Amino acid sequence: MLKQGLFICAVLVLTMPGIFSCVNNKKDMVTTESLGTFEGKDVFLYTLTNKKGDVIRITNYGASIVEINVPDRDGQKTNVTFGYDDLDSYIKGDPYFGKVVGQYANRIAKGRFSLDGVEYTLAINNEPNTLHGGPTGWHSRAWDPEVLKNTDYPAVKFTYHKPDMEEGYPGNVVAEVVYTWTDDNEIIMDYKVTTDRNTVINITNHAYFNLHGSGQGDILDHEILIRASAFTPVDSTLIPTGELRSVEGTPFDFRTPHLTGERIGDEYDQLKLGRGYDHNFILDNIEEVDAEVYDPSTGRVLQVITDQPGVQFYTGNFLDGTQTGRGGKVYAYRSGLCLETQHFPDSPNQPGFPSVLLTPEEPFLSSTIYRFSVR
Ligand code: BGC
Repeated sequence: MLKQGLFICAVLVLTMPGIFSCVNNKKDMVTTESLGTFEGKDVFLYTLTNKKGDVIRITNYGASIVEINVPDRDGQKTNVTFGYDDLDSYIKGDPYFGKVVGQYANRIAKGRFSLDGVEYTLAINNEPNTLHGGPTGWHSRAWDPEVLKNTDYPAVKFTYHKPDMEEGYPGNVVAEVVYTWTDDNEIIMDYKVTTDRNTVINITNHAYFNLHGSGQGDILDHEILIRASAFTPVDSTLIPTGELRSVEGTPFDFRTPHLTGERIGDEYDQLKLGRGYDHNFILDNIEEVDAEVYDPSTGRVLQVITDQPGVQFYTGNFLDGTQTGRGGKVYAYRSGLCLETQHFPDSPNQPGFPSVLLTPEEPFLSSTIYRFSVR
């Protein structure tokens, strides 16, 4: 059987090169199709199918997650993340759907930071700050793709070589992310980043989720658990003030599950400043699962597991229905939420926050898992 599978795979590769490729097991499969080219580089859409027959799609443009098809409690499968159908829409549409964001995810105040006595200036793309690595950050690059062979599950690696001072960040930096799609419906994201001189790093995946199915209503009825005893309050430009505030007695206490919409309209300073939830939660990092989203209507569950110290809980407050994604779905106000695992925003300017220094001596290594199930 295994030989037969490999034979079929080989025939597909030989007859339709560029469309099909295979991994080691006949059921664990990665197929590849061309989406076009960007800045002289080929862009591909990869379809990863696990032994359950569940499928995710990813692309090397922005090292993005494009589609996640998972069942509800009745076995009905639907796509629960935001993405586009074609490369042109990725280039012209919302810059961050499903993307890997770097070199510094989230904001750096006024686009400035100092390192080793040198002041670095970044592009201001979110007045008056820099957001998500600047306008041509890692989300907007075609990464070098490689379908991994001899892995336990379908897996694809994307690599981006960032030249010294691109978007104002020092260092020739090499960023790698490996996406693995397990038979337990987990997307494992393994990151490795190296540099040839001191720099700063904050990397995340910016997937939006709606567990009803993307484009199907808002996420205010999703139940959220975040194992965080504190969060970082922000100013009106969404830059942390430096305070580490306990969640106790606030609408930011998600240590027991609450619906997203339950307290989002409360008269609480941080909900006003954030226009909803758009804040970094300081993870307790004690239990395996750091955050969980549950949709009572479909039974779908998303668990987020990370080794990072924070997670940005963002309730899609800037979505406005102007973006139409896969299958003609419209992404309306608060129709998706993000749980961006990360270091804290603006850390290079915040001496009280955990260090984001990346040196040539020690690579940045990190893993985050999005695990899907039902109950
Ligand atoms: C930020 C939001 C921003 C969004 C853009 C989030 O990480 O915290 O303020 O609007 O990304 O997609």
